[in-house]
Amino acid sequence: MNKDYEVIESVKGVSKIYQTGHGENIKALDNVSFEVRKGEIVGLMGPSGCGKSTLLGILGLTKKPSEGQVKIAGELVSSSANERALLRNEFFGYVMQDASVIEDMKVWKNIALPLEYARKRYHFDVMRECVAQVAASLGIEESLERKASELSGGQKQRVALARALVGNPHVILADEPTSALDSSTSQSVVEMLVDIAHSGKAVVIATHDEKVAGQCDRCVYMRDGAIQA
Ligand SMILES: Nc1ncnc2c1ncn2[C@@H]1O[C@H](COP(=O)(O)OP(=O)(O)OP(=O)(O)O)[C@@H](O)[C@H]1O
Ligand SMILES: [Mg+2]
Repeated sequence: MNKDYEVIESVKGVSKIYQTGHGENIKALDNVSFEVRKGEIVGLMGPSGCGKSTLLGILGLTKKPSEGQVKIAGELVSSSANERALLRNEFFGYVMQDASVIEDMKVWKNIALPLEYARKRYHFDVMRECVAQVAASLGIEESLERKASELSGGQKQRVALARALVGNPHVILADEPTSALDSSTSQSVVEMLVDIAHSGKAVVIATHDEKVAGQCDRCVYMRDGAIQA
């Protein structure tokens, strides 16, 4: 392992069992151990249903493991809902498959959402400045006053990326962020994620796309809830 890479998050022996509406148990993750290091972009690959989104959910503290432990910066994550909510907001940026922007809201407000919910209170002008900076870095500064519903899919994906970055998180978790995009827009979103990782963050990206995976520093392949050797 490269010594320059510090482990920023790890999961050890993690399993996840979902209970379905009919009382059936589905083992979505089975004894998974995985590390994310500062400065890297890791691809999560594998067939549909193999557990990629579940693993992202556990890394991002939106799901709790049925077994096993999650450590952030070497410390076990608390089980307190409040602590987890604060960590979610401050430590992670999330980019979802469908961009999940709020269509009826202006672009700048969409981007500012994590700041509105942060522990720290932001003065309005400071919030606007943070939004302006991240929007400029992603080339969407001209769209800030538009409604999100007026944007193209690629522009919405940039808004989602801006929202994931605005709070200056340590880890960005991206679930199929390029699946709705054409290949050149997809390429530019991936290049941004690679640059973000290499600027000292960590990025974990679930993808089916070999081209996207090819640009990651390393890839982890999953099958039936387990990481393949
Ligand atoms: N909320 C849930 N309740 C019950 N089962 C679930 C739930 N979420 C996921 N599953 C099941 O857990 C398994 C893993 O799902 P997951 O969404 O993690 O897969 P994935 O690798 O992300 O798939 P895809 O590539 O299709 O997005 C699947 O069998 C799925 O049906
Ligand atoms: Mg998924």
